[in-house]
Amino acid sequence: MEISNNAWVLISRPKEYFSSENVKLTQMKIPKLSVGEFLVKNIWISFDPTQLNWMKRDTYVKKIQIGEVIRSLAVGKVIESQNEQFKVGELVSGVFGWQEYAISNGLFVNHVRPIESVGPPWYSLSLFGITGMTAYFGVTEIGKVKEGDAFLVSSAAGSVGSIAGQIAKIKGARVVGIAGGQKKCKWVMEEAGFDYCIDYRTDNVSEKLSEVFPDGVDVYFDNVGGEILDIVLSKIKQNGRIVLCGAISGYGTMNFQPLRNYANLISKRGRMEGFIVSDFTNRFGEAYKNLYLWLKEGRLKQKEEITDGLENAPEVFKKLFTGSNFGKQILKIADI
Ligand SMILES: NC(=O)c1ccc[n+]([C@@H]2O[C@H](COP(=O)([O-])OP(=O)(O)OC[C@H]3O[C@@H](n4cnc5c(N)ncnc54)[C@H](OP(=O)(O)O)[C@@H]3O)[C@@H](O)[C@H]2O)c1
Repeated sequence: MEISNNAWVLISRPKEYFSSENVKLTQMKIPKLSVGEFLVKNIWISFDPTQLNWMKRDTYVKKIQIGEVIRSLAVGKVIESQNEQFKVGELVSGVFGWQEYAISNGLFVNHVRPIESVGPPWYSLSLFGITGMTAYFGVTEIGKVKEGDAFLVSSAAGSVGSIAGQIAKIKGARVVGIAGGQKKCKWVMEEAGFDYCIDYRTDNVSEKLSEVFPDGVDVYFDNVGGEILDIVLSKIKQNGRIVLCGAISGYGTMNFQPLRNYANLISKRGRMEGFIVSDFTNRFGEAYKNLYLWLKEGRLKQKEEITDGLENAPEVFKKLFTGSNFGKQILKIADI
């Protein structure tokens, strides 16, 4: 079967933030499968802030080369297979990119788990995928959140942040979020069940933090870096932990604001620790089991926005950096 594939390829590197000029929608032929390979028809594509880093520079993975398809996670259906482990008709998730079809040899590919009635297949890109896993291990392993902790998370209405806060709540912490705008803060408190949400666009973050956590912060789950991280460093409690998950405020310029308050970690015997979700790959099963249970019990809310059409990929991606996204961004490009 001869298939032609529509794919977004990188044609120039973003100087600061991503622009539609950096990518081009191209048609390419799908080569014949070799033994061990299978062909996936993408259905749902995931958007994650780190894709901007992948377009710009080598990080924990090699940067996307000019002319290469934009790398991203996706869920799709196997439509042709020369690999016994991945059979035609199965739903799989993997690094399949901003394109209609992807050839894979099975590396880093998972079968979409039997989510039964608690969630749709695209949860493999959110709650049961990269964002849920990041939230779970950030809270439980890096933050070591325990009963009674004062827990703070930035980008609290976002994919990772909203789940991190809800997990901390399940662990018995008092949970405060920081998010941009009243609509997001309302959802964070009323739907996700946080104890409070600071709107960093209108509130004085430092003053509000002193009001809501007068004794300071035990665990700060940081998704944004920059000025907010510096403020929280001045409010950290004895033996406080800062989970360095992301630093989206600096992904554009990479010119991070200096941290004037970091020395507070010395007197407070505090700790700041970065991590990458793939550090925990061999424990994803454990996270899945807990997240599945909590979702089934109605203790987790997952918010997403689904847009149709591969042609809209650049516009959806841009939303992550303006805050006009609300929940996990998914692009649906085919019917199941
Ligand atoms: N360590 C890991 O393995 C790992 C894995 C996945 C994700 N991450 C990181 O986790 C963070 C959140 O990712 P996500 O997928 O959940 O994205 P998200 O929070 O759903 O979307 C990004 C949000 O960041 C906020 N934002 C954008 N620019 C900002 C700025 N200049 N200052 C402050 N906030 C800004 C916006 O929220 P507001 O409207 O509230 O401002 C926006 O909605 C990112 O930093 C990402 O790189 C890390």
